[in-house]
Amino acid sequence: MSVDGKNRAFAYPTKAFFVRMITRDINLEDCILDLIDNSVDSAWNQEGSCPMGLGDGANLSRYTIDIQLLPDQFVIRDNCGGMSLDNAVEHAFSFGRNATADRDDFSIGVYGIGMKRAVFKLGRKVKVRSTFTQSDGSRLAFVVPIEVDTWLQNDAPPWDFDIADDNPLEENGVEISVSELTPGSASSFNSPAFVQNLRRIIARDYSLHMQRGLKIRLNGNPVVGWAINLLQSDDFIPMRVEYTDELEGDTVGIEIIGGMAAPPPESIDPDEGDDGDRRFGWYVVCNGRIVLAADKSALTGWGTEDWPQWHYQYAGFIGIILFTAANAAALPLTTTKRSVDTSSEIYRRARPRMREVSKRWISYTNQRKQALDEARKRESAAVSVPLASIAQRPAVTLPVLVAKPAQKSANVNYSVPVSRMKKLAQEFGNINMPYRDVGLRAFEYTYQDLVGKD
Ligand SMILES: Nc1ncnc2c1ncn2[C@@H]1O[C@H](COP(=O)(O)OP(=O)(O)OP(=O)(O)O)[C@@H](O)[C@H]1O
Ligand SMILES: [Mg+2]
Repeated sequence: MSVDGKNRAFAYPTKAFFVRMITRDINLEDCILDLIDNSVDSAWNQEGSCPMGLGDGANLSRYTIDIQLLPDQFVIRDNCGGMSLDNAVEHAFSFGRNATADRDDFSIGVYGIGMKRAVFKLGRKVKVRSTFTQSDGSRLAFVVPIEVDTWLQNDAPPWDFDIADDNPLEENGVEISVSELTPGSASSFNSPAFVQNLRRIIARDYSLHMQRGLKIRLNGNPVVGWAINLLQSDDFIPMRVEYTDELEGDTVGIEIIGGMAAPPPESIDPDEGDDGDRRFGWYVVCNGRIVLAADKSALTGWGTEDWPQWHYQYAGFIGIILFTAANAAALPLTTTKRSVDTSSEIYRRARPRMREVSKRWISYTNQRKQALDEARKRESAAVSVPLASIAQRPAVTLPVLVAKPAQKSANVNYSVPVSRMKKLAQEFGNINMPYRDVGLRAFEYTYQDLVGKD
Protein backbone atom coordinates (compact mmCIF):
# COMPACT_ATOMS: atom_id res chain seq x y z
CA MET A 1 0.00 0.00 0.00
CA SER A 2 1.36 3.42 -0.91
CA VAL A 3 1.00 6.38 1.44
CA ASP A 4 2.24 8.82 -1.22
CA GLY A 5 4.73 10.49 1.10
CA LYS A 6 2.09 10.96 3.80
CA ASN A 7 4.00 8.87 6.31
CA ARG A 8 3.81 11.09 9.40
CA ALA A 9 0.66 11.78 11.44
CA PHE A 10 0.50 15.31 12.84
CA ALA A 11 0.32 15.26 16.65
CA TYR A 12 1.17 18.79 17.75
CA PRO A 13 -1.17 20.16 20.44
CA THR A 14 -3.27 23.29 20.03
CA LYS A 15 -3.00 26.22 22.43
CA ALA A 16 -6.74 26.18 23.05
CA PHE A 17 -6.51 22.55 24.14
CA PHE A 18 -3.76 23.44 26.60
CA VAL A 19 -5.60 26.38 28.06
CA ARG A 20 -8.82 24.41 28.43
CA MET A 21 -7.20 21.31 29.91
CA ILE A 22 -4.89 22.90 32.45
CA THR A 23 -7.57 25.18 33.86
CA ARG A 24 -10.35 22.64 33.99
CA ASP A 25 -9.78 20.65 37.17
CA ILE A 26 -8.54 23.37 39.47
CA ASN A 27 -10.62 25.92 41.29
CA LEU A 28 -9.95 29.61 41.49
CA GLU A 29 -8.78 29.56 45.09
CA ASP A 30 -6.12 26.95 44.30
CA CYS A 31 -4.93 29.00 41.31
CA ILE A 32 -4.45 32.02 43.56
CA LEU A 33 -2.55 29.83 46.03
CA ASP A 34 -0.30 28.76 43.15
CA LEU A 35 0.66 32.41 42.63
CA ILE A 36 1.29 32.87 46.35
CA ASP A 37 3.43 29.71 46.30
CA ASN A 38 5.58 31.26 43.57
CA SER A 39 6.12 34.41 45.64
CA VAL A 40 6.97 32.32 48.71
CA ASP A 41 9.40 30.20 46.66
CA SER A 42 11.08 33.36 45.48
CA ALA A 43 11.37 34.72 49.04
CA TRP A 44 12.73 31.39 50.21
CA ASN A 45 15.23 31.47 47.38
CA GLN A 46 16.40 34.93 48.47
CA GLU A 47 16.95 33.53 51.95
CA GLY A 48 19.25 30.80 50.68
CA SER A 49 16.84 27.90 50.03
CA CYS A 50 17.49 25.98 53.21
CA PRO A 51 15.28 23.06 54.23
CA MET A 52 11.91 24.21 55.55
CA GLY A 53 11.60 22.20 58.75
CA LEU A 54 10.40 23.83 61.93
CA GLY A 55 13.79 24.19 63.49
CA ASP A 56 15.37 25.64 60.36
CA GLY A 57 15.48 29.34 60.95
CA ALA A 58 14.69 31.70 58.12
CA ASN A 59 13.20 35.06 58.76
CA LEU A 60 10.62 36.11 56.20
CA SER A 61 9.63 39.40 57.80
CA ARG A 62 11.10 41.42 54.90
CA TYR A 63 8.58 39.97 52.50
CA THR A 64 5.05 41.05 51.65
CA ILE A 65 2.55 39.59 49.21
CA ASP A 66 -0.32 41.87 48.30
CA ILE A 67 -3.41 40.48 46.60
CA GLN A 68 -6.23 42.62 45.23
CA LEU A 69 -9.48 41.15 44.00
CA LEU A 70 -11.21 44.04 42.21
CA PRO A 71 -14.49 43.91 40.28
CA ASP A 72 -12.62 44.05 36.98
CA GLN A 73 -9.05 43.11 37.84
CA PHE A 74 -6.85 40.72 39.79
CA VAL A 75 -3.44 41.85 41.04
CA ILE A 76 -0.77 40.05 43.05
CA ARG A 77 2.40 41.93 43.89
CA ASP A 78 5.35 40.73 45.91
CA ASN A 79 8.70 42.11 46.99
CA CYS A 80 10.29 38.67 47.02
CA GLY A 81 13.23 39.38 44.73
CA GLY A 82 11.68 39.10 41.26
CA MET A 83 12.11 36.79 38.31
CA SER A 84 15.31 37.15 36.30
CA LEU A 85 15.16 37.93 32.60
CA ASP A 86 17.00 34.69 31.78
CA ASN A 87 14.45 32.74 33.79
CA ALA A 88 11.60 34.46 31.90
CA VAL A 89 13.24 33.76 28.55
CA GLU A 90 14.13 30.13 29.21
CA HIS A 91 11.77 28.61 31.78
CA ALA A 92 9.13 30.63 33.55
CA PHE A 93 6.62 30.86 30.68
CA SER A 94 7.04 27.39 29.24
CA PHE A 95 4.36 24.79 29.92
CA GLY A 96 6.02 22.26 32.19
CA ARG A 97 9.54 22.31 33.50
CA ASN A 98 12.14 20.91 31.18
CA ALA A 99 14.73 18.52 32.52
CA THR A 100 17.46 21.16 32.70
CA ALA A 101 15.27 23.34 34.91
CA ASP A 102 15.14 20.72 37.64
CA ARG A 103 15.61 22.63 40.82
CA ASP A 104 17.08 21.57 44.08
CA ASP A 105 15.94 24.47 46.19
CA PHE A 106 13.30 23.20 48.64
CA SER A 107 10.58 24.92 46.59
CA ILE A 108 6.90 24.08 46.50
CA GLY A 109 6.92 24.54 42.71
CA VAL A 110 7.29 21.21 40.93
CA TYR A 111 5.64 21.05 37.55
CA GLY A 112 6.20 24.36 35.82
CA ILE A 113 2.54 25.03 35.14
CA GLY A 114 1.07 26.93 38.14
CA MET A 115 1.52 30.53 36.98
CA LYS A 116 0.23 29.91 33.45
CA ARG A 117 -2.73 27.92 34.70
CA ALA A 118 -3.61 30.64 37.20
CA VAL A 119 -3.55 33.54 34.76
CA PHE A 120 -5.57 31.68 32.13
CA LYS A 121 -8.13 30.75 34.77
CA LEU A 122 -8.36 34.36 35.92
CA GLY A 123 -8.81 36.32 32.69
CA ARG A 124 -7.90 37.23 29.14
CA LYS A 125 -5.48 40.15 29.50
CA VAL A 126 -2.37 39.48 31.55
CA LYS A 127 0.71 41.45 32.50
CA VAL A 128 3.61 39.83 34.33
CA ARG A 129 6.05 42.49 35.51
CA SER A 130 9.35 41.78 37.19
CA THR A 131 12.13 43.89 38.65
CA PHE A 132 15.30 42.22 39.85
CA THR A 133 18.97 42.90 40.53
CA GLN A 134 21.37 41.58 37.89
CA SER A 135 24.71 39.99 38.68
CA ASP A 136 26.47 43.33 38.04
CA GLY A 137 24.34 44.93 40.76
CA SER A 138 22.10 47.00 38.46
CA ARG A 139 18.33 46.69 38.53
CA LEU A 140 16.41 45.56 35.48
CA ALA A 141 12.67 45.68 34.84
CA PHE A 142 10.66 43.91 32.16
CA VAL A 143 7.07 43.04 31.41
CA VAL A 144 5.47 40.09 29.66
CA PRO A 145 2.08 41.16 28.33
CA ILE A 146 -0.25 38.35 27.27
CA GLU A 147 -3.38 38.91 25.22
CA VAL A 148 -4.81 35.44 25.57
CA ASP A 149 -7.30 35.57 22.67
CA THR A 150 -4.71 36.90 20.25
CA TRP A 151 -2.15 34.36 21.40
CA LEU A 152 -4.66 31.54 20.91
CA GLN A 153 -5.22 32.44 17.25
CA ASN A 154 -1.97 30.93 16.01
CA ASP A 155 -0.98 27.40 16.97
CA ALA A 156 2.18 27.29 14.90
CA PRO A 157 5.36 26.76 16.90
CA PRO A 158 7.29 28.27 18.54
CA TRP A 159 4.88 29.20 21.27
CA ASP A 160 6.25 32.28 22.96
CA PHE A 161 5.35 35.63 24.51
CA ASP A 162 6.88 39.04 23.92
CA ILE A 163 9.10 40.54 26.59
CA ALA A 164 9.30 44.36 26.77
CA ASP A 165 11.13 47.00 28.79
CA ASP A 166 9.22 48.31 31.78
CA ASN A 167 9.40 50.91 34.51
CA PRO A 168 10.90 49.36 37.62
CA LEU A 169 8.63 48.31 40.45
CA GLU A 170 9.23 50.06 43.74
CA GLU A 171 10.97 47.01 45.19
CA ASN A 172 12.44 43.95 43.51
CA GLY A 173 9.62 41.53 42.94
CA VAL A 174 6.89 40.38 40.62
CA GLU A 175 3.53 41.92 39.88
CA ILE A 176 0.94 39.94 37.97
CA SER A 177 -2.21 41.72 36.91
CA VAL A 178 -5.10 40.13 35.06
CA SER A 179 -8.03 42.02 33.55
CA GLU A 180 -10.89 41.08 31.24
CA LEU A 181 -11.71 38.59 33.94
CA THR A 182 -13.38 35.29 33.11
CA PRO A 183 -17.05 35.28 34.21
CA GLY A 184 -16.16 32.82 37.01
CA SER A 185 -13.47 35.11 38.48
CA ALA A 186 -15.59 38.24 38.14
CA SER A 187 -18.53 36.75 40.00
CA SER A 188 -16.26 35.24 42.68
CA PHE A 189 -14.48 38.55 43.31
CA ASN A 190 -17.87 40.20 43.79
CA SER A 191 -18.86 37.64 46.40
CA PRO A 192 -17.97 38.51 50.01
CA ALA A 193 -18.26 34.80 50.86
CA PHE A 194 -15.57 33.95 48.28
CA VAL A 195 -13.22 36.61 49.60
CA GLN A 196 -13.81 35.56 53.19
CA ASN A 197 -13.18 31.92 52.37
CA LEU A 198 -10.00 32.75 50.47
CA ARG A 199 -8.78 34.76 53.45
CA ARG A 200 -9.44 31.78 55.72
CA ILE A 201 -7.57 29.39 53.42
CA ILE A 202 -4.56 31.71 53.18
CA ALA A 203 -4.55 32.23 56.96
CA ARG A 204 -4.45 28.48 57.42
CA ASP A 205 -2.18 27.22 54.64
CA TYR A 206 0.57 29.82 55.01
CA SER A 207 0.42 29.99 58.79
CA LEU A 208 3.91 28.53 59.18
CA HIS A 209 5.33 31.15 56.78
CA MET A 210 3.46 33.90 58.59
CA GLN A 211 4.89 32.65 61.88
CA ARG A 212 8.27 33.34 60.27
CA GLY A 213 7.18 36.90 59.59
CA LEU A 214 5.82 36.73 56.03
CA LYS A 215 3.04 39.30 55.46
CA ILE A 216 0.12 38.63 53.17
CA ARG A 217 -2.54 41.24 52.45
CA LEU A 218 -5.86 40.60 50.81
CA ASN A 219 -7.77 43.62 49.51
CA GLY A 220 -5.64 45.88 51.65
CA ASN A 221 -6.17 44.04 54.95
CA PRO A 222 -3.48 41.86 56.51
CA VAL A 223 -4.28 38.16 56.70
CA VAL A 224 -3.75 36.92 60.24
CA GLY A 225 -2.20 33.44 60.18
CA TRP A 226 -3.57 30.65 62.35
CA ALA A 227 -1.50 30.09 65.46
CA ILE A 228 -0.64 26.40 65.63
CA ASN A 229 0.61 25.77 69.15
CA LEU A 230 0.60 22.82 71.50
CA LEU A 231 0.12 22.75 75.26
CA GLN A 232 2.86 21.51 77.52
CA SER A 233 3.35 20.75 81.23
CA ASP A 234 4.89 17.96 83.30
CA ASP A 235 1.84 15.83 82.49
CA PHE A 236 1.42 16.75 78.86
CA ILE A 237 4.53 16.65 76.70
CA PRO A 238 4.16 16.63 72.92
CA MET A 239 6.12 14.12 70.85
CA ARG A 240 8.62 15.31 68.29
CA VAL A 241 10.67 13.06 66.09
CA GLU A 242 12.83 13.74 63.07
CA TYR A 243 14.17 11.24 60.58
CA THR A 244 15.02 10.97 56.90
CA ASP A 245 13.70 8.66 54.23
CA GLU A 246 14.84 8.03 50.66
CA LEU A 247 12.81 8.04 47.48
CA GLU A 248 14.47 7.17 44.18
CA GLY A 249 17.72 8.85 45.16
CA ASP A 250 16.10 11.87 46.83
CA THR A 251 16.38 12.41 50.57
CA VAL A 252 13.21 13.54 52.30
CA GLY A 253 13.37 14.98 55.82
CA ILE A 254 10.40 14.14 58.02
CA GLU A 255 9.35 15.73 61.27
CA ILE A 256 6.35 14.63 63.32
CA ILE A 257 4.94 16.62 66.22
CA GLY A 258 1.77 15.83 68.09
CA GLY A 259 -0.02 16.38 71.34
CA MET A 260 -2.70 18.36 73.12
CA ALA A 261 -3.58 21.73 71.60
CA ALA A 262 -6.62 22.31 73.82
CA PRO A 263 -8.42 20.35 76.53
CA PRO A 264 -10.94 17.95 75.02
CA PRO A 265 -14.52 19.23 74.90
CA GLU A 266 -16.71 19.09 77.99
CA SER A 267 -19.81 17.86 76.27
CA ILE A 268 -19.86 15.52 73.35
CA ASP A 269 -22.43 17.27 71.30
CA PRO A 270 -21.96 16.86 67.56
CA ASP A 271 -24.04 19.97 66.83
CA GLU A 272 -21.82 22.04 69.02
CA GLY A 273 -18.75 20.30 67.69
CA ASP A 274 -19.25 21.35 64.13
CA ASP A 275 -17.28 24.54 64.48
CA GLY A 276 -15.49 23.83 67.73
CA ASP A 277 -13.14 21.18 66.37
CA ARG A 278 -12.10 23.04 63.23
CA ARG A 279 -8.48 23.49 64.27
CA PHE A 280 -7.86 19.95 65.39
CA GLY A 281 -6.63 16.86 63.56
CA TRP A 282 -3.61 16.27 61.38
CA TYR A 283 -1.66 18.83 59.34
CA VAL A 284 0.51 17.69 56.45
CA VAL A 285 3.18 20.16 55.40
CA CYS A 286 5.33 19.93 52.26
CA ASN A 287 8.36 22.23 52.01
CA GLY A 288 6.72 24.62 54.46
CA ARG A 289 3.30 24.80 52.83
CA ILE A 290 0.34 23.25 54.64
CA VAL A 291 -1.25 21.01 52.01
CA LEU A 292 -3.77 19.36 54.32
CA ALA A 293 -5.09 21.11 57.41
CA ALA A 294 -6.90 19.85 60.51
CA ASP A 295 -7.64 16.59 58.73
CA LYS A 296 -9.97 14.06 60.31
CA SER A 297 -10.38 11.80 57.29
CA ALA A 298 -8.95 8.54 56.00
CA LEU A 299 -6.15 10.56 54.35
CA THR A 300 -4.44 10.85 57.72
CA GLY A 301 -5.56 7.44 58.90
CA TRP A 302 -8.88 8.05 60.67
CA GLY A 303 -11.30 5.23 60.05
CA THR A 304 -8.67 3.01 58.38
CA GLU A 305 -6.93 -0.12 59.64
CA ASP A 306 -7.43 -0.08 63.40
CA TRP A 307 -8.05 3.68 63.76
CA PRO A 308 -11.54 4.77 64.73
CA GLN A 309 -13.39 7.40 62.72
CA TRP A 310 -12.82 10.93 63.99
CA HIS A 311 -15.19 11.78 66.77
CA TYR A 312 -15.81 15.08 68.52
CA GLN A 313 -14.47 13.47 71.68
CA TYR A 314 -10.97 13.58 70.14
CA ALA A 315 -11.03 17.36 69.61
CA GLY A 316 -8.06 19.02 71.24
CA PHE A 317 -5.49 16.93 69.39
CA ILE A 318 -3.15 18.41 66.80
CA GLY A 319 -0.54 16.43 64.89
CA ILE A 320 1.77 17.93 62.31
CA ILE A 321 3.90 16.03 59.83
CA LEU A 322 6.41 18.01 57.82
CA PHE A 323 8.12 16.71 54.70
CA THR A 324 11.07 18.61 53.29
CA ALA A 325 13.00 17.78 50.15
CA ALA A 326 15.43 19.70 47.98
CA ASN A 327 13.60 18.24 45.00
CA ALA A 328 9.90 18.98 45.50
CA ALA A 329 8.97 16.10 43.18
CA ALA A 330 9.83 13.70 46.02
CA LEU A 331 7.16 15.18 48.30
CA PRO A 332 3.83 13.39 48.86
CA LEU A 333 1.87 16.14 47.11
CA THR A 334 -1.11 15.93 44.81
CA THR A 335 -0.86 17.97 41.60
CA THR A 336 -3.13 20.72 42.94
CA LYS A 337 -0.98 20.84 46.13
CA ARG A 338 -4.12 20.82 48.22
CA SER A 339 -3.91 17.29 49.50
CA VAL A 340 -1.55 14.49 50.25
CA ASP A 341 -0.73 11.72 47.79
CA THR A 342 -1.58 8.66 49.85
CA SER A 343 0.08 6.34 47.35
CA SER A 344 3.46 7.96 48.08
CA GLU A 345 5.82 5.44 49.66
CA ILE A 346 7.28 8.12 51.91
CA TYR A 347 3.84 8.95 53.24
CA ARG A 348 2.84 5.33 53.67
CA ARG A 349 5.93 4.62 55.69
CA ALA A 350 5.23 7.62 57.94
CA ARG A 351 1.63 6.64 58.70
CA PRO A 352 2.32 4.09 61.47
CA ARG A 353 4.23 6.77 63.39
CA MET A 354 1.30 9.12 63.05
CA ARG A 355 -1.05 6.41 64.23
CA GLU A 356 0.93 5.91 67.44
CA VAL A 357 0.36 9.43 68.70
CA SER A 358 -3.29 9.56 67.58
CA LYS A 359 -3.93 6.28 69.39
CA ARG A 360 -2.46 7.55 72.63
CA TRP A 361 -4.68 10.61 72.48
CA ILE A 362 -7.80 8.54 71.76
CA SER A 363 -7.13 6.39 74.78
CA TYR A 364 -6.50 9.45 76.96
CA THR A 365 -9.84 10.98 75.97
CA ASN A 366 -11.54 7.70 76.91
CA GLN A 367 -9.79 7.55 80.25
CA ARG A 368 -10.52 11.14 81.21
CA LYS A 369 -14.26 10.56 81.05
CA GLN A 370 -13.94 8.49 84.24
CA ALA A 371 -11.81 11.06 86.08
CA LEU A 372 -13.01 14.38 84.74
CA ASP A 373 -12.15 16.63 87.67
CA GLU A 374 -8.62 15.32 87.88
CA ALA A 375 -8.20 15.58 84.09
CA ARG A 376 -9.45 19.16 83.97
CA LYS A 377 -7.14 20.18 86.80
CA ARG A 378 -4.10 18.77 85.07
CA GLU A 379 -5.09 20.07 81.64
CA SER A 380 -5.51 23.61 82.92
CA ALA A 381 -1.91 23.63 84.16
CA ALA A 382 -0.51 23.11 80.64
CA VAL A 383 0.77 26.17 78.79
CA SER A 384 0.96 26.99 75.11
CA VAL A 385 4.36 26.57 73.44
CA PRO A 386 5.38 27.41 69.87
CA LEU A 387 6.04 24.35 67.72
CA ALA A 388 9.65 25.25 67.03
CA SER A 389 10.55 25.18 70.72
CA ILE A 390 9.21 21.68 71.40
CA ALA A 391 12.01 19.29 72.35
CA GLN A 392 12.71 15.98 70.64
CA ARG A 393 10.84 13.12 72.30
CA PRO A 394 9.92 9.80 70.71
CA ALA A 395 6.41 9.53 72.15
CA VAL A 396 3.76 11.81 73.53
CA THR A 397 3.42 11.96 77.33
CA LEU A 398 -0.12 12.07 78.70
CA PRO A 399 -1.21 11.67 82.32
CA VAL A 400 -2.42 8.32 83.61
CA LEU A 401 -5.72 8.98 85.32
CA VAL A 402 -7.25 6.68 87.89
CA ALA A 403 -10.97 6.31 87.38
CA LYS A 404 -13.07 7.49 90.31
CA PRO A 405 -16.28 5.53 90.60
CA ALA A 406 -19.20 7.89 90.27
CA GLN A 407 -21.19 8.22 93.53
CA LYS A 408 -24.65 6.77 93.47
CA SER A 409 -27.26 9.37 94.22
CA ALA A 410 -30.60 9.06 95.98
CA ASN A 411 -33.61 10.97 94.70
CA VAL A 412 -36.05 12.25 97.33
CA ASN A 413 -39.66 12.93 96.59
CA TYR A 414 -42.17 13.86 99.29
CA SER A 415 -45.25 16.08 99.78
CA VAL A 416 -45.95 18.61 102.54
CA PRO A 417 -48.70 21.24 102.84
CA VAL A 418 -47.85 24.34 100.81
CA SER A 419 -48.42 26.59 103.81
CA ARG A 420 -45.72 24.80 105.82
CA MET A 421 -43.35 24.83 102.84
CA LYS A 422 -43.81 28.60 102.47
CA LYS A 423 -43.18 29.17 106.17
CA LEU A 424 -39.92 27.26 106.01
CA ALA A 425 -38.91 29.10 102.83
CA GLN A 426 -39.50 32.36 104.64
CA GLU A 427 -37.29 31.21 107.50
CA PHE A 428 -34.59 30.49 104.91
CA GLY A 429 -34.91 34.13 103.81
CA ASN A 430 -37.03 33.94 100.66
CA ILE A 431 -40.71 33.05 100.66
CA ASN A 432 -40.51 32.40 96.90
CA MET A 433 -37.58 29.96 97.13
CA PRO A 434 -38.22 26.98 94.80
CA TYR A 435 -39.52 23.93 96.73
CA ARG A 436 -36.60 21.92 95.52
CA ASP A 437 -34.12 24.35 97.10
CA VAL A 438 -36.08 24.44 100.35
CA GLY A 439 -35.88 20.63 100.43
CA LEU A 440 -32.10 20.66 99.79
CA ARG A 441 -31.47 23.36 102.41
CA ALA A 442 -33.55 21.43 104.92
CA PHE A 443 -31.53 18.30 104.22
CA GLU A 444 -28.19 20.13 104.54
CA TYR A 445 -29.36 21.74 107.80
CA THR A 446 -30.33 18.44 109.39
CA TYR A 447 -27.23 16.69 107.98
CA GLN A 448 -24.93 19.30 109.53
CA ASP A 449 -26.71 19.01 112.83
CA LEU A 450 -26.83 15.27 113.15
CA VAL A 451 -23.91 13.99 111.00
CA GLY A 452 -21.61 17.01 110.87
CA LYS A 453 -18.84 17.32 108.27
CA ASP A 454 -18.18 14.47 105.75
N1 LIG B 1 6.50 35.75 42.06
C1 LIG B 1 7.55 35.22 41.45
N2 LIG B 1 8.81 35.62 41.75
C2 LIG B 1 9.88 35.06 41.15
N3 LIG B 1 9.80 34.09 40.20
C3 LIG B 1 8.60 33.68 39.84
C4 LIG B 1 7.40 34.20 40.44
N4 LIG B 1 6.33 33.60 39.87
C5 LIG B 1 6.84 32.72 38.99
N5 LIG B 1 8.19 32.74 38.97
C6 LIG B 1 9.08 31.92 38.12
O1 LIG B 1 8.28 31.31 37.14
C7 LIG B 1 8.46 29.90 37.17
C8 LIG B 1 7.20 29.20 36.69
O2 LIG B 1 6.20 29.27 37.68
P1 LIG B 1 5.03 28.18 37.66
O3 LIG B 1 4.17 28.41 38.82
O4 LIG B 1 4.39 28.20 36.32
O5 LIG B 1 5.79 26.80 37.80
P2 LIG B 1 6.59 26.23 39.07
O6 LIG B 1 6.39 27.10 40.24
O7 LIG B 1 8.00 26.04 38.62
O8 LIG B 1 5.92 24.81 39.29
P3 LIG B 1 4.38 24.50 39.70
O9 LIG B 1 3.63 24.23 38.45
O10 LIG B 1 4.51 23.27 40.54
O11 LIG B 1 3.89 25.69 40.42
C9 LIG B 1 8.86 29.60 38.59
O12 LIG B 1 9.58 28.39 38.66
C10 LIG B 1 9.72 30.82 38.92
O13 LIG B 1 11.04 30.62 38.45
MG1 LIG C 1 4.43 27.58 40.89
